Amino acid sequence: MKKLVVMSGKGGVGKSTIAANLAFALKKKGYKVGLLDCDVHGPSIPKLLGLENVRGLEAKEGKIKPIDVQGVKVFSMGFMLPSRDTPVVWRGPIKHKFIEEALNNVDWGDIDYLVIDLPPGTGDEVISIVQLAKPDGSVIVTTPQSVAIEDVRKAINFSIHAGIPVIGLIENMSGMICPHCGKEIEIFGSGGGKKLAAEMAVPFAGNLPVDTTIFKSGEDGKPFVDLNSPAAETFSRIVDGLLENLEMVKEELRRLEEKAKKAKKDAEKKLEELRKKSEAEKQS
Ligand SMILES: Nc1ncnc2c1ncn2[C@@H]1O[C@H](COP(=O)(O)OP(=O)(O)OP(=O)(O)O)[C@@H](O)[C@H]1O
Ligand SMILES: [Mg+2]
Ligand SMILES: [Zn+2]
Repeated sequence: MKKLVVMSGKGGVGKSTIAANLAFALKKKGYKVGLLDCDVHGPSIPKLLGLENVRGLEAKEGKIKPIDVQGVKVFSMGFMLPSRDTPVVWRGPIKHKFIEEALNNVDWGDIDYLVIDLPPGTGDEVISIVQLAKPDGSVIVTTPQSVAIEDVRKAINFSIHAGIPVIGLIENMSGMICPHCGKEIEIFGSGGGKKLAAEMAVPFAGNLPVDTTIFKSGEDGKPFVDLNSPAAETFSRIVDGLLENLEMVKEELRRLEEKAKKAKKDAEKKLEELRKKSEAEKQS
């Protein structure tokens, strides 16, 4: 199972929308997928998937059964709250425990991908999720505004320092598709994401415009990738790019590992030679 985290230094940039639709896009491409909502304070996956009324989950043989949404296994903190309006006042250790529980005690089965939606920022919660989950790759979300881009820089650095390869930076809300004529309008400008990716040497995954079908599908609790729309096509291409990058990163890590192994062997051989030489010198 490969674990992918969706993160950003910034709130409200579309992380949850992208996480949910990444899960369903992967499903559409034929993979077995799980979706874990790790935002314990503001879980939005239940709303995005029309699961606001789910309360409490069945457990079987000590494992919690996730909710099956068209074949995607979904687990959210939102399912465990007494009511939609109950604020979470948990302390750090309990949050840590919940995340451990979600990773180890939810019956994910033999899925190919687990998509993890993270809360905004790079605080304690995100750190503990990352430590516990050891993700295989991160997807970073930004919007075109420069403020967001500053915060996103932090998220990229965080991912790199935590040893999670960035498999793509997505510029969300980049331009807008006019609901009247379908032409693209630039609102906040665009191109910042691509520039930032180049500057920080992480792969750029593409632009996703502001699109009323994306917003509406969120309100309706249905993934937009299931609708026949230009947004769904754009997003499908973005996901293909993410998967390619994940493969590349894996290949690169394998090469580095092999290189390290070979270097170690060479060093051991050299050491052995030196030892033999000094032995021989001692005897003569
Ligand atoms: N490309 C888009 N076009 C139109 N609306 C969008 C787009 N991306 C996200 N939205 C809308 O923006 C709002 C915020 O999105 P979302 O909840 O995914 O952001 P977030 O980064 O997860 O927020 P938070 O930091 O609170 O977790 C939602 O109403 C969502 O439907
Ligand atoms: Mg969110
Ligand atoms: Zn128009």
